[in-house]
Amino acid sequence: MDSGFAIYNSKIPMPSLFDPLRLRGLELPHRIMVSPMCQYSCVDGFATDWHLVHLGSRAVGRAAAVFAEATAVTPDGRISPQDLGIWSDAHIEPLQRAFSFIERQGSIPGIQLAHAGRKASTAEPWNGGKPLSLQQGGWTPIFGSSDLPFNEGYQTPQPLSRSEIQQIVAAFADAARRADAAGARIIELHAAHGYLLHSFLSPLSNQRQDEYGGTFENRIRIVCETAAAVRKAWPERLPLFVRISATDWSEGGWTIEDSLALVRHLKPLGVDLVDCSSGGNVAGAKIPVGPGYQVTFAEEIRRATGICTGAVGMITQPAQADEIIRRGQADVVFLARQFLRDPYWPLIAARELGHEIQWPVQYERAKLK
Ligand SMILES: Cc1cc2nc3c(=O)[nH]c(=O)nc-3n(C[C@H](O)[C@H](O)[C@H](O)COP(=O)(O)O)c2cc1C
Repeated sequence: MDSGFAIYNSKIPMPSLFDPLRLRGLELPHRIMVSPMCQYSCVDGFATDWHLVHLGSRAVGRAAAVFAEATAVTPDGRISPQDLGIWSDAHIEPLQRAFSFIERQGSIPGIQLAHAGRKASTAEPWNGGKPLSLQQGGWTPIFGSSDLPFNEGYQTPQPLSRSEIQQIVAAFADAARRADAAGARIIELHAAHGYLLHSFLSPLSNQRQDEYGGTFENRIRIVCETAAAVRKAWPERLPLFVRISATDWSEGGWTIEDSLALVRHLKPLGVDLVDCSSGGNVAGAKIPVGPGYQVTFAEEIRRATGICTGAVGMITQPAQADEIIRRGQADVVFLARQFLRDPYWPLIAARELGHEIQWPVQYERAKLK
């Protein structure tokens, strides 16, 4: 793997964490993103006051972009009954309220579009996160690439027929139109963590015999079709991100080399940035979790394909985040749990890194000198 040393030491000044980034017609004020995080706080997929306050607080904290959680494009594509959804026009208005607040703070509202696939119909984490029976509020059938359950106790998914695949692709495109109507400015497609799109990519979960399974080109087909359909439905001036699991961390599974090859297909389809996560498709996979443990995936994909990347996973320290950008390992950083601990992290990080940032006027008297 390229160490990045040559680029780090070149004469070209690399951007830093607080430098802006232009993607299509959008200028991100700096490089810190709120990673999508399920809140399991909806009824029938509708955003609530929780979303306004949760997402809104992180915009008050001056994140460059705030991503709404995995948002289901069909009701059966929810992870839990309490997931956020965008499968009808009625879902637009409550999202709009949160997104317009985010934008008025000078932050950019993003949304992650998702289908849970064979990991659908489970309880919220604080209620155990296990598969739900019908009596417990779960649903059946759930859909997947093949008839392979995710793990013991999970439902066996019904393999999507080719016409059902086209319906899912169309559901993502419809969701993109609604996201635009709601005022989202970035869409991220969720093709990671073992959910529907990822389950097509990996040979461990995809054992189809048709043109959506078998060869690499067949396994990536649904992701490419979805990216193309969403790109068409989404305004040209707005960026499209895709989150992938760069590896399954499992023998015989999806690899970083597969990720590079996938990104080479996605880039010409108009995907602007790849958010590089990992795992989630194989229960019990051994993942070497530690500070910045997925950053090398963002680095390798960025260097090999020239696409913009996002680094995510145990990025918690301002100097750590700044170094990722300065070394050219990624173009942006996504923080999840650190933003739950501290919604104002960018304000504190700016002070630590000696960068001047505009605090919300209402909070100016608390500004650290
Ligand atoms: C409460 C919670 C909910 C999450 N929900 C999502 C989600 O909706 N979509 C997604 O791609 N990742 C989700 N993740 C994963 C995070 O976006 C992130 O990739 C992961 O937590 C690693 O980053 P961190 O170490 O900064 O927390 C979630 C994580 C947490 C803690």
